[in-house]
Amino acid sequence: MADIVYAFGCSHGPLLVTPPNEWDLRANVDRKNPALWYRDRTYNFAELAELRKADHFEQQNTLDVRTERFNRCQVQLDELARRSQSQKFDVLVIVGDDQHEWFFSDTQPTFAIFHGQQVYNRALTAKEQEEIIARGGQYSMKVYHPPKDEIYPTPVSLAESMIGRAMDEGFDVTACGEQPKDGENMRKLGHAYGFVYRRILDSKPIPLVPILINTFFPPNQPTPKRCFEFGRSLGRAIKAWDPDKRVAVAASGGVSHFVVDEDFDNRILTAMLKNDWETICKEPQFMFQSGTSETKNWIVMAGILAETKLKMELLDYVPCYRSEAGTGSGMAFATWQ
Ligand SMILES: [Fe+2]
Repeated sequence: MADIVYAFGCSHGPLLVTPPNEWDLRANVDRKNPALWYRDRTYNFAELAELRKADHFEQQNTLDVRTERFNRCQVQLDELARRSQSQKFDVLVIVGDDQHEWFFSDTQPTFAIFHGQQVYNRALTAKEQEEIIARGGQYSMKVYHPPKDEIYPTPVSLAESMIGRAMDEGFDVTACGEQPKDGENMRKLGHAYGFVYRRILDSKPIPLVPILINTFFPPNQPTPKRCFEFGRSLGRAIKAWDPDKRVAVAASGGVSHFVVDEDFDNRILTAMLKNDWETICKEPQFMFQSGTSETKNWIVMAGILAETKLKMELLDYVPCYRSEAGTGSGMAFATWQ
């Protein structure tokens, strides 16, 4: 029987790979965003700055503070890399969200599992690079995507066991048997997966099962409770998988962004440390919109781990502010051992 031996949760995002003096590349995108999600509604930048002015985020948006936060994040990314590379596991299950990378608005599955032979993390085309640079992502694209194609094999029997178990347990999961293409061209691997391989795993071609959750796009985002229960089903499928393999799990993304909400982040992370699933599951859907929705990847992973004895260690939580309106990213780094 397979064993779940290790897990980690890791934020990703441009602020983790962009020098602090260049964070305005992303802040300038925020300034033009007419719909920044904060709690139960959206605001434009000026409205958000007015709403949150008593918090004085300008004091946390100086180069000194940005640099201190950036460095704290690098310490934890290095630590996650060190821990993850020293663990012995045969397979990595990554819970991520698809942000119009494999799936688009023509068909957007709520839950999808890839069960093809291998995943291509291919180099970006010139056109894709241009689009990412226009969104202030010139630094991040080099970390998410390799200069030359990388291939990660997929343990098909595990992926299919997970799909079968999910179907038996009431989750009508989408089975993705081939990496989607546009004509002859393979669609690029999602940022949630590339970041883990490139920044944490040093691009080692460890066998991968990508779990793709539609956290981001209405109208079919799963509820937090549904995410947790789906994770539990995945966890049972991993444990019932026949070969005597060691399996690791990762959640990629989150916590709050593009508007930082420290109250939300602390509430969720504290509940996870206490295995307090009730608090997590009753968190309203509106709290999980835009980038913050990626926190659901952590909830699915918490479900996977719920029936194991692994214990969470929160390495750090670092709120990274890039503007006076409190835009930026809440960064969290944790392991389960
Ligand atoms: Fe993301």
